[in-house]
Amino acid sequence: MDRLPPRRFCVAPMLDCTDRHARHLMRLISRHAWLYTEMVTTGALLRGQPERWLTYSAIQHPLALQLGGSDPAALARCAIPAQAWGYDEVNLNVGCPSDRVQGGQFGACLMAEPARVADCVAAMAAVVRIPVTVKTRLGIDDLDNDAHLHHFVATVAAAGCRTFIIHARKAWLKGLSPHENRTVPPLQYERVHRLKAAMPDLEIILNGGLTDLDAARVAGEGLDGVMLGRAIYDSPYRLAGVDACFYGDAHPVPDRVDVVHAYGVHAQGELTSGTPLNALTRPLLGLFNGLPGARAFRRHLSEQVCRPGAGWAVVEHALAAFCRADVPVQSASSGSGERFQSRRLGETAGETEWERSY
Ligand SMILES: Cc1cc2nc3c(=O)[nH]c(=O)nc-3n(C[C@H](O)[C@H](O)[C@H](O)COP(=O)(O)O)c2cc1C
Repeated sequence: MDRLPPRRFCVAPMLDCTDRHARHLMRLISRHAWLYTEMVTTGALLRGQPERWLTYSAIQHPLALQLGGSDPAALARCAIPAQAWGYDEVNLNVGCPSDRVQGGQFGACLMAEPARVADCVAAMAAVVRIPVTVKTRLGIDDLDNDAHLHHFVATVAAAGCRTFIIHARKAWLKGLSPHENRTVPPLQYERVHRLKAAMPDLEIILNGGLTDLDAARVAGEGLDGVMLGRAIYDSPYRLAGVDACFYGDAHPVPDRVDVVHAYGVHAQGELTSGTPLNALTRPLLGLFNGLPGARAFRRHLSEQVCRPGAGWAVVEHALAAFCRADVPVQSASSGSGERFQSRRLGETAGETEWERSY
């Protein structure tokens, strides 16, 4: 991509979710949203087989690789292949509170060590031209006030990081599971706005609990962008509004059925190289959410995908199940063409209702 769009809308890094297939699907729906990989630890990347972690399809730009680690030298050694593989950004995870990550002394526990994070950023920035960014929380445990957050951000910014993605809640390192740490500590968007007001030259992206595009745009006003995770993974077609809503691009929104067919080209190539079918169908499960046939589509995929000999035809059959579950808008005697047509008309109506009711 010649000139990258700004990070006005980003899809969050999510382990076991934002793999290269999910990202391929997302890119078919939005041209401009920034996509983030799942976190890859320095250990995993440096142990060998970098292609296992770094491979992605060419359409995915703008694309950031998220790293997990706390050793500046190891992070620098990982940033180099990130740039060489064409990633547009390398992002450091300073927000994950899981025990495993804490055991490796990275993730959210690094919020207690601004100087170490600054060293990590400086080491990476010294060896690559692509931006080095940080995704973090408002605080951890008792280190949970504006003074600490601003000190953390200022220290890391001085080392060469201009972009901070802030998950707008603190993390409790002991006592809460990662899942609880995404739901229990209250969201405090106003603290992210105070950070931006204190450091207006930095790019500040708001993350956490944003569930639809309009709400995200309102919550992100005055900031540089927003990042959505679960809302997009659960219902990827939400991305269809992003280009118009966040980038003023009035290009026609892709139809969901066309998206499945375009994704099929990627999937069939992957199947031939040995990728399991269920890894390819998983990102599709929520694609039709909000429409009458969504459940039939999901059920068909879930039930059929692991059957011996199952191939891409399972998805075509799931699409047929989706269309059958439609209630035709026209007459009950409609032929299959009309039925399909009504599905597409129904999609627009369903989408509006679904957007309202999320
Ligand atoms: C299943 C799952 C996996 C996640 N994995 C990562 C990760 O690898 N790196 C990271 O920085 N955050 C990770 N997160 C946190 C998200 O990036 C995001 O900060 C969080 O879900 C809040 O945003 P949301 O409310 O829009 O989902 C994960 C979240 C979920 C639900």
